[in-house]
Amino acid sequence: MTNTLVDTHSRKIDYMRISVTDRCNLRCVYCMPPEGIELTQPQNILRYEELLRIARISAAHGVSKFRITGGEPLVRRGIIEFLKDLSSIKGVEDLSITTNGVLLKDYAARLKEAGLRRVNVSLDSLKRDRFQKMTRGDNLQNVLDGLHESEYVGLTPVKVNMVVIKGFNDDEIIAFADLSKERPWHIRYIEYMPFNTQEGWQKDKCLSAKEIKELINQQAGELYPVISGPGGAGPARRYKFKDAPGEIGLISPVSEHFCGSCNRLRLTADGKIRTCLFSDNEIDLKTALRDGSSDDAIERLLFKAVAEKPSQHHINENVFKKCSRTMSLIGG
Ligand code: GTP
Ligand code: 5AD
Ligand code: SF4
Repeated sequence: MTNTLVDTHSRKIDYMRISVTDRCNLRCVYCMPPEGIELTQPQNILRYEELLRIARISAAHGVSKFRITGGEPLVRRGIIEFLKDLSSIKGVEDLSITTNGVLLKDYAARLKEAGLRRVNVSLDSLKRDRFQKMTRGDNLQNVLDGLHESEYVGLTPVKVNMVVIKGFNDDEIIAFADLSKERPWHIRYIEYMPFNTQEGWQKDKCLSAKEIKELINQQAGELYPVISGPGGAGPARRYKFKDAPGEIGLISPVSEHFCGSCNRLRLTADGKIRTCLFSDNEIDLKTALRDGSSDDAIERLLFKAVAEKPSQHHINENVFKKCSRTMSLIGG
């Protein structure tokens, strides 16, 4: 392997999040307006062979973790074949997906077979009517079935992502925590982040990770830190209840950022590398992929993106800067 990707702040970049589509079968209120967003023209979405080429070049420079995101990645046709090809690239070690879980039950076994290691599933409410209000879809049971099926086929650790919004679903924090006492799932609470949405982000709707942890400690039992273990910590600070099969994770991009240990690049479905979730600085790979550029030229763009990675986001400084793309275009 030639040189690895290290940015100007000495962070080793070994993780790439690839958004394979901006389409989604849900319309979460914090992500999309009810009518959906204007979709990228199909010809502007990277083809699977283009994504594989980028993955191959990145893996040759030490990127070993790949996460497939969307929109909803399972709605893109041919996803299983793509994952099979991706998992067989030399250097790809940890291949995972972030999904809303609606189609997961049907896909879990084939995902496992294709070489996927694990799944992260977005789930913000365990109440049918609230789930419906939050996602504008009546699919709670499908998501729960998908979680159980993923555990059953060994897409583990199964991680559950709950975006906590004050006054909307914060009364379910304990019910989610209790899931980790029953199942070997990692329940992760995510601070509500400012993105352009119809609902409108407000700071007072964001409950901090510290507040969430205190609430759990008081009402669900004492949390013990988890130092290390399978599944990778990522941005989550990990805890568990004594004797529980599962874990609790706290993800605090707003109150206490984890930029110092950020190891990731994001590839949007339309072929741009984003250097940070909150930075609108994008490096265009699509043009190079389609104008006959060599692998060396693409490699240079990759190094350029890494060199331009900012030291941290600035969403907490004075005014909250909302980024111009919605979450469904970036993939989280
Ligand atoms: P693993 O730790 O590998 O399981 O994945 P992950 O937690 O990074 O991935 P996931 O897609 O489940 O992301 C969980 C939440 O963390 C999402 O809301 C992401 O937007 C958020 N997140 C992930 N990476 C970053 C990041 O680099 N910066 C910020 N601010 N938030 C992030
Ligand atoms: N704040 C925090 N998390 C968000 N997600 C989507 N929008 C937001 C937001 N505004 C989460 C989804 C999914 C992950 C990819 O990003 O719930 O778990
Ligand atoms: Fe779809 Fe995910 Fe956005 Fe919800 S948050 S609308 S599941 S892309």
